[in-house]
Amino acid sequence: MRRPTHGGNLAWAAALAGCSPSLILDFSASINPLGPPKSAIAAIEQALKDLTAYPDPHYNQLRASLNQLHPTLTPDWILPGNGSAELLTWAARELSELEKTCLLTPAFSDYQRALKAFGAKVREYPLDLSSEILDLRSQIQNLKSKIQNRYGLLLNNPHNPSGHLFDRKMILPLVSQFALVVVDEAFMDFLPPHQQQSIIPVVQDYPNLVIVRSLTKFYSLPGLRLGYCIAHPDRLRRWQQWRDPWPVNALAAAAATAVVQDTAFQQQTWEWLPKVRSQLFQGLSSLSGLHPYPSAANFLLVQSEQPSSQLQAKLLKHSRILIRDCLSFPELGDRFFRVAVRTEADNQRLLEGLDAILKS
Ligand SMILES: Cc1ncc(COP(=O)(O)O)c(C=O)c1O
Repeated sequence: MRRPTHGGNLAWAAALAGCSPSLILDFSASINPLGPPKSAIAAIEQALKDLTAYPDPHYNQLRASLNQLHPTLTPDWILPGNGSAELLTWAARELSELEKTCLLTPAFSDYQRALKAFGAKVREYPLDLSSEILDLRSQIQNLKSKIQNRYGLLLNNPHNPSGHLFDRKMILPLVSQFALVVVDEAFMDFLPPHQQQSIIPVVQDYPNLVIVRSLTKFYSLPGLRLGYCIAHPDRLRRWQQWRDPWPVNALAAAAATAVVQDTAFQQQTWEWLPKVRSQLFQGLSSLSGLHPYPSAANFLLVQSEQPSSQLQAKLLKHSRILIRDCLSFPELGDRFFRVAVRTEADNQRLLEGLDAILKS
């Protein structure tokens, strides 16, 4: 079986561990362990009766629901999608029409998939993960502004795989310099609203700005596929014409409408994450040869003195725990791995499993 490029490939992990996929403790996909919220399951059950009808291709009700999360916008600024991955595909199609796309690396591997699908020319800008403050401007300042006007920029905030949160003040000056700026905020909702550095509040001032959001990570619904994009209505109407008429199924639409109103679940996650992430960070730091990076998201990037692919294989065989090697991030290679923040009990199992392997 081929080594997966995404997290969460339990069939691959189970084949290596020699057990059934249901016995694997998965730290490789960064999914909220508190979910899915009961409100999502109830909405899905309720919507089963709608399966005999096609969803509304304009998704008017779903757009109105998503609009509750971003009340300064109107629904025509919001386009729901089959996960944020679908919307990144359409963003990549538009980026491919520009002279070049600047990509901050390491980057989520699916960006390359989407950009390649439309023949986009990519220029990579490696981030120095070792510096305390990742300075976006210093990576991009060597581009002359006349060239930038014909270039696109794709970046991710908080950044996967490092978990670094860029200050929106750092991103804003770039928006007026590039022809198209796509900001993937798939993990932004793990921060409570007052700590978020989302660029959504300025989207109405910049027709060249696209923000992509996911609902699969925070609400633990990766199998349902659900995301949305915020951008100028003209752009979203164009995307609507490119794609199939019903990319979001009726169950996903119903779940989305329920979860965006589930403030109790949102609050619970915001209260839970910082403490448990910090415990996991401390636990990993105390293990010999492991150096975790500070993170604003629900995962931690860890530098390892031992090859991470070996650690991954040993953990699978000895403890049935799957961590994410970073081989799909070529800039990181075999000395990094990434783990999701899970429940305290699961995190403890991971720390014990790693400890046993590192000592052996
Ligand atoms: C940075 C980033 N963006 C987007 C996605 C796609 O998420 P989804 O399509 O489930 O919304 C992922 C999934 O891992 C991701 O890591």
